[in-house]
Order: sequence, then structure tokens, then C-alpha cells
Amino acid sequence: MNEPNPSAKPWAGRFNAPTDAFVEAFTASVDFDRRLYRYDIQGSIAHATMLSRQGILTATERDAIVSGLEAVRARIDAGEFVWSIPLEDVHMNVESALTADIGEAGKKLHTGRSRNDQVATDVRLWLRDEIDAIRAAILRLQQALLDLAEREVDTILPGFTHLQVAQPITFGHHLLAWFEMLERDRERLADCRRRMNVMPLGAAALAGTTYPIDRHYTAELLGFDRPAENSLDAVSDRDFAIEFAADAAILMMHLSRFSEELILWSSAQFGFVELADSFCTGSSIMPQKKNPDVPELVRGKSGRVFGHLMGLLTLMKGQPLAYNKDNQEDKEPLFDTVDNLKGSLKVYADMMGNLTCNRERMRAAAKQGFSTATDLADYLVRRGIPFRDAHEIVGKAVALGVREGRDLAELTLAELRQFSDAIGEEVFAVLTLEGSVAARDHLGGTAPAQVRAAIARGRERLGASEDDDTARESQFRQLVSETSETLEKWRQSQDISESSNPHPA
Ligand code: ARG
Repeated sequence: MNEPNPSAKPWAGRFNAPTDAFVEAFTASVDFDRRLYRYDIQGSIAHATMLSRQGILTATERDAIVSGLEAVRARIDAGEFVWSIPLEDVHMNVESALTADIGEAGKKLHTGRSRNDQVATDVRLWLRDEIDAIRAAILRLQQALLDLAEREVDTILPGFTHLQVAQPITFGHHLLAWFEMLERDRERLADCRRRMNVMPLGAAALAGTTYPIDRHYTAELLGFDRPAENSLDAVSDRDFAIEFAADAAILMMHLSRFSEELILWSSAQFGFVELADSFCTGSSIMPQKKNPDVPELVRGKSGRVFGHLMGLLTLMKGQPLAYNKDNQEDKEPLFDTVDNLKGSLKVYADMMGNLTCNRERMRAAAKQGFSTATDLADYLVRRGIPFRDAHEIVGKAVALGVREGRDLAELTLAELRQFSDAIGEEVFAVLTLEGSVAARDHLGGTAPAQVRAAIARGRERLGASEDDDTARESQFRQLVSETSETLEKWRQSQDISESSNPHPA
């Protein structure tokens, strides 16, 4: 077992006095960055594998390091690892435990590497996995929305502008608007992942290293698309964290907007939807209350996620090249962002799968507020009246309806004809809700036929990206997730390129 030994700081050589006890606790990050241990170990195994292939470590040393790291990982997995604050962070905790376990070879792991390129690598490896998980969670919510849209493809409710009744729409159409917003979120994250998937290792502290390393090989072992071009940039770049936080902020802004609608719609005044009891809570004083806590909380959580974006931008804005200790502050906002995103997406998909719609209430609301007034104007245009005149005629008819407390469809033909004798009996078909939505029958319109087609296209898009994700994930697994596979790959590549190896072990 590893036992913390404060005097064993890897950098203690040039110091004459021990670290102040408070400073030690103040500067340590192990309390939170230990969350990265699997990625730290994954990176170290790839690094050691590369060092040995380049003849910088012997095969025996490499094997001792790899199995030693696996044993450390197993201890951490099992909750048996003793974390040490004097050892500052996850990197030195793991390395020090390795050396305590295997002796001399452990001390060679850090050859040609610095914690600066190590931490930049760990965070990218971790975030890459989290982005995959978040994208899968978005997809799951999108699927729930498509299912609900399919069920409610003919359900009519008022569409709003300025939160005033505007025109009738189908509920399926409304849900597909949410679907599109999420589709952009999923794309944005894929884009962020692509740009992030570049390997810092080999930059060492800032300038590179004097050892004959093979960065392409390490990058390949870790599933990175390529090594970073510039060592200074590699250790100090946190653009990927900011970009992720921005994508996360936009996603949370979307969820917050969905929440606002669900909260309004589930109020007694709207009564359009009912959230399942299992997603609501009551009041300790008012017995009648059933509160939409989940959407409210998601709307609230958007605030902290926006804050993390601002925090990360501010963290970076004054930093000269290259690494500065400030960067240690990148982790907690990222962890919190990821946790809240995953939680919000999961609960949202579950909640949408359990939503009840009150179709009568939606329909009744669509009948108020003269929602088919534009349809009457369009009808007059079809009868040869210029749109501006038609607008005026309908405005007068609406004014009559307001005075009489009746909707346009409830006025008599004679009443309508006092404003224009172009109006005939067939106008009443135009003024129905069904007629209104069915008439908007083009790509992107609210007609049920269009919504059905859009749902089918949506399912195709999700199906295609699921295939992509599966392919990428299995590729990723093959390359990196299991150490034995990494080693196996190393052995194979040795057989192939033994003769071309410039630094044989
Ligand atoms: N804990 C540090 C971080 O999170 C690791 C890198 C430390 N590097 C250094 N030169 N002190 O950024």
C-alpha cells in the first residue's frame, strides 16, 4: 500500500524549507483532479510504451511500469488508494504510488514528460469521453421528442409571438423545433471534440524534450488525431475547455427555454400539459400544489453553466505563455458543467417520455385570440384583393369579433361580408384550425403531413449518427481503453518496424 510521505515531494531537491502547511493545502488539487486518474494512467501507459519502443526504457522497465500502473488503477477503482495532499495532485499521487510499488523503474516514467503536458493530455482524454456521453444523452432526449411528436402530430395548439396568440400550429411541429435546437448542440459538441482531439504530450514543460520521442506513436495509442504542432501552445491552450463550456452554455440555454414553456404550459391558466407525478414535488403548506421542480431546476442550473464559461474565459485572458498554475482552476468548472449537463439531459429525456398532453385545452386556446386571422387575409388575397387591403378588412372583422366576444369562425357570413363582398360560404373551411395548419404544407411548415415527413427525416439523422458513434467508440476502445490491448498493439508494431527503429531497446 502507498503511504503518504510528505518529505517525498518529487521536486524537493532545490528547496531548503518544507512547504508551509496551509500553502500545501491551498495549492493542492488532488481533492478534485483525482477524478482524472483513469486518464492519467492511460496516458502514462501510452507514454511508457512509446519510451520503450524508442529505446529510452527497456522492455522490462516498461512491463513493470505498465503492470504497476494497472495495479494502482485497480486499487483506486476499489477505493483502497490513500490520496496524499502533500503530493499535490493526481499525477504525483499516482507516480509516487507506482514508485513505492515497483521501485527504480517507476522513477523513469516521467522521462521526457512534464506535468504540464500530462495534465493537458488528461483533461482532453477525459473530456473527449464526456462529450461522447453527453452527445449520447442529447440523442436520447431527441428520440423522446420524436416519439412524443409522433403521438401529437395532429394536436393543435396556439403558436405564440410576443407570448400573444399568433397562428395555430401542431404540437408535433413545436416539439420538432426543440429537436432542431438539440441537433445543433450535438453537432457543435462533435465539432469541439474534433478540434480538441490533438495530443499535447511531448511538449514537456514548454519547449519539448531532448529525448528521441515519437509523438505520432503516442498520439495513435491514445486515439488522438495528431500531436499538437507547437509545444508552447500545447501546454497552455485551454481553448478546448472554453469552447466546450460555450457549447454547454448554449445547450443549457436551450433546455432552459424548454423549461420555461413546460412551466407555463403546466400552470392552471394554460393547462396544456401535465408532468408525471414522479417528476414533480408538492408544497409543505399548500396541499393543492404540484410544482414543476425539474424544469425549474434545469432552468436554474443554466445560470451556473453560463458562469463557468465566463470563469474560464477570465481564467485565461491574462495568461502569458506558457503554463501557469492558474490553469489548475480549469477543472472544477469543467467537472461541474459536465455533471449538470448529463443530469439535466437524463432527467429531461425521462420526463418527456412521461408527459401527458391535454389536447382539449390546447385546442380551446388555439380557438381564442383570432389565430386564423392571417388565413382569412390569405383567402382574400387568393380572391384578388391586395394583401394590405386584405389586412385592413380582416382587422375590421377582428374588431367586430372583439366587441361581440366571438371568434372569426363564429361570425355569420352576412357579418363578414359587410367588410368585403369577396367573402363567400367556403371561407369557413379556411377559418377552421385544421384547415389553417394543413394549408402550411411545405418543407418546414406546420401541416401534419410535413411534420410526419420531418419526424421520419429526424429518425434517419439520429440513426446515422448512432452508427457513427458506435463505430467511433469501438475504434476508440480498440486503441486505448484496455492496457493489454495497448501492449498488444505495441508488440505488433515492434514486429513490423523493428528494423526501422532508430533506438532499439
Ligand atoms: N495540478 C496541476 C494542474 O492542474 C498540474 C500541473 C502542474 N504543473 C506545474 N508546473 N506545477 O494544472
